Amino acid sequence: MKKTIYTTAFLISLCIALSGCSSRPNEESMDTLISRVFSLAGKQYAAMSRNLGEGKFPRTFEGGDSLVTSDCKYWCSGFYPGSLWYIYEYTRNDSIRVLADKYTKMLDSRKYSTANHDIGFQLNCSYGNALRITGDSCYREPLLTGARSLATRFNPIVGCIRSWDFVRKGCDWKFPVIIDNMMNLELLNVASDLMKDPGLMQIAESHANTTMKNHFRKDYTTYHLVDYDPENGAVRSRQTVQGYSNGSAWARGQAWGLYGFSMMFRQTHDAEYLRQAENIARMLLKRLPDDGIPFWDFDDPAIPNTVRDASAGAIMASALVEIASQTKNKSLGKKCLEMAVKQLRTLAGSDYLAKEGENGGFLLKHSVGSKPGNSEVDVPLTYADYYFLEALLRYKTYITND
Ligand code: GLY
Repeated sequence: MKKTIYTTAFLISLCIALSGCSSRPNEESMDTLISRVFSLAGKQYAAMSRNLGEGKFPRTFEGGDSLVTSDCKYWCSGFYPGSLWYIYEYTRNDSIRVLADKYTKMLDSRKYSTANHDIGFQLNCSYGNALRITGDSCYREPLLTGARSLATRFNPIVGCIRSWDFVRKGCDWKFPVIIDNMMNLELLNVASDLMKDPGLMQIAESHANTTMKNHFRKDYTTYHLVDYDPENGAVRSRQTVQGYSNGSAWARGQAWGLYGFSMMFRQTHDAEYLRQAENIARMLLKRLPDDGIPFWDFDDPAIPNTVRDASAGAIMASALVEIASQTKNKSLGKKCLEMAVKQLRTLAGSDYLAKEGENGGFLLKHSVGSKPGNSEVDVPLTYADYYFLEALLRYKTYITND
């Protein structure tokens, strides 16, 4: 697996950038904040495991008393084991490692799934982190088999992996690709490195290049869904499913794009991907509200009288910390890091972070699954917690590398 190499020059410039993010008098230091969140996370996630039925994964918590669960096929099933691995990475608590291993291995059968693109989320967050953190080769094979399964959805004429096989009522999609799909490319890159076979990474690069060309508007906001003609690769339509309108900037979609291109730069070293991530970051830095947490869609005319999406804020924070470590533009890097810190401080504050014993064991409140679908609006979600923990770990890693 390729790893980011931190040069001395980078570390020096990051330190300078960080000096702009240091705590104000009486403000909690980031070290203390990170320790506080991981201590809470260990307790919340262990408690949550005691309320999960056999074979079940957490999905959300509703009505103040109901833990909603899923089976392993749901697109989010990898986030719970993934968060457990992050908690283990920080705390080195062996009982958390036992849980992380158990919930990871409950996903083994996903490696054969060719039904949609979500296998990347499912396997890379779980098995990918397990292998990275422990180095235990028992976690290797599901990543390789899973990546081959994902690659079966690639169409070389389109140049993309097909996201979904279902067709939404009223639509006539032939080959729908959603911006979220950028996240699944990490599994291909990880497997490509493990196998020393460039073929899977070439698929990831083709998908990212095609997405860069067809998903983005001139202002670097992204459409949610692009439908292609699988016979000739032509774009048939550009739409939304989870956003306010076809032309709007759905917050989590912008977050997936930001993260996806920064991840592609880390794994391929192709500067075009960093350029794309930097341009998306510039757009977000202009549009994010003062506390850093986006409303669910940047273009909802009801803003500010509508809901925030903590999950989008957490994904952006994780990506912005990484972009701060990647960009050669010191001014942009400083702004990215300052925004990420702002987002992390907001999420770790009492408006968003649950108290111990509350929120069904989840960490963050106030995320949005699908507002147009009236599904999971203003609730805790596994992926908000996962990217929040990841962002905190990335922040810590980058500082302590100095
Ligand atoms: N499909 C993943 C999401 O809702 O962002």
